[in-house]
Amino acid sequence: MSAPLTPGAVQALRALTPGTQSTVHFNHAGASLPSAATLQAIHAHLKREAAQGPMEAGVAARDLTEAARVLAAQLLNAQVDEIALTGGNSSGWGAAFAALPAWRPGDRILVGRHEWGGNLAALRLNAERAGATLETIPSDASGCVDAQALESMLDGRVRLIVLTWLPANGGLINPAAEIGRVARRHGIPYFIDGAQAVGQFPIDVAQIGCDVLSGAGRKALRGPRGTGLLYVRRDFLEQLTPAFVDTHSAPLGPDGRPMLRKDAARLESAENSLALRCGLANALREALDLGLDTIRATIDANAQALRAELAAISGITVLDQGRERSGLVSFNLAGQDAGDVQRTLAAQGITIGSNGVPYTPLDMQARGLDRIARASVSYLTSSAEIDRLLEALRKLAG
Ligand SMILES: Cc1ncc(COP(=O)(O)O)c(C=O)c1O
Repeated sequence: MSAPLTPGAVQALRALTPGTQSTVHFNHAGASLPSAATLQAIHAHLKREAAQGPMEAGVAARDLTEAARVLAAQLLNAQVDEIALTGGNSSGWGAAFAALPAWRPGDRILVGRHEWGGNLAALRLNAERAGATLETIPSDASGCVDAQALESMLDGRVRLIVLTWLPANGGLINPAAEIGRVARRHGIPYFIDGAQAVGQFPIDVAQIGCDVLSGAGRKALRGPRGTGLLYVRRDFLEQLTPAFVDTHSAPLGPDGRPMLRKDAARLESAENSLALRCGLANALREALDLGLDTIRATIDANAQALRAELAAISGITVLDQGRERSGLVSFNLAGQDAGDVQRTLAAQGITIGSNGVPYTPLDMQARGLDRIARASVSYLTSSAEIDRLLEALRKLAG
């Protein structure tokens, strides 16, 4: 594992990130703080659009607006034609899911316990309509999705395996590659929701063995809101017929027939914010320049420090499960509602998140939780910020 960033390097990165001057941010899992250079990349394209005309600027700056695709491929160890640029995690995941062949009665979809609520909604709507079933893969004693249990559930009717890699309600990291080996061995399509994973540590889609992996731009990557990326394995792409197409994904040929694109952009739509794509490209470049190993080591050191201190406060229970942990630290204060804790801290200028059941219903219900507080760190998080959060929580815990 790489060494974490030094405090001096963190300070230098914070100086280039305006939000670190105005907020104590522990909601990087919701959305992180963009750098001044990312903001500048967005503004620069908006200015080009104003000066040249938006359509003309789009053509003239094509290399800049397409850079995000190239860099996203590099980030995931994918090919450029396997990347679609999306408006967020769900829009990418949902586009890929909606493009699968029609569900039939008796089809089985297997899903991990940590699945994102939005994906579950799409899965349930489609399964119910078709008479397919949605079944939860058991978790092991650590809370992780159990690859062996998955294998024992398989039969010829299983048509999809679905995993949220890093849940939204805790620091657990699911064994995505172990599950990928099972999926590959049995030739079953495998979707990963990587909303919390992309930008947090190195990802190699070939090694994981997934067919689809979605990510959000605004979280660990520190890109702008309204951006996302989607990987679709090249050989899997031909199984996907988009739920809707337009002039970009299926232009009409000379004979008037739609020509479905051969690359992952068949899951994109024609109209997008190219300014935000320029911002995303900058954020991707910053992450790659820093190095994903270094990012992971720094986030891990921050999260571990915060977790250990929190666990030592009487009246606070840390709720993270799993063998390996992410930068998301989940906890509850005895007798206090997590939403109230979030609001009290916000009044002191400290931002955390809190979740109810709907974001991760299967896991919350399995663990008898109805709300959790979550403090999520970045490599930008300073030890002074961690101290400030802990001090505020110590007072609250009484
Ligand atoms: C695991 C997970 N999946 C999906 C989402 C939704 O992402 P988006 O809002 O970009 O669609 C989130 C958002 O927090 C998430 O944590």
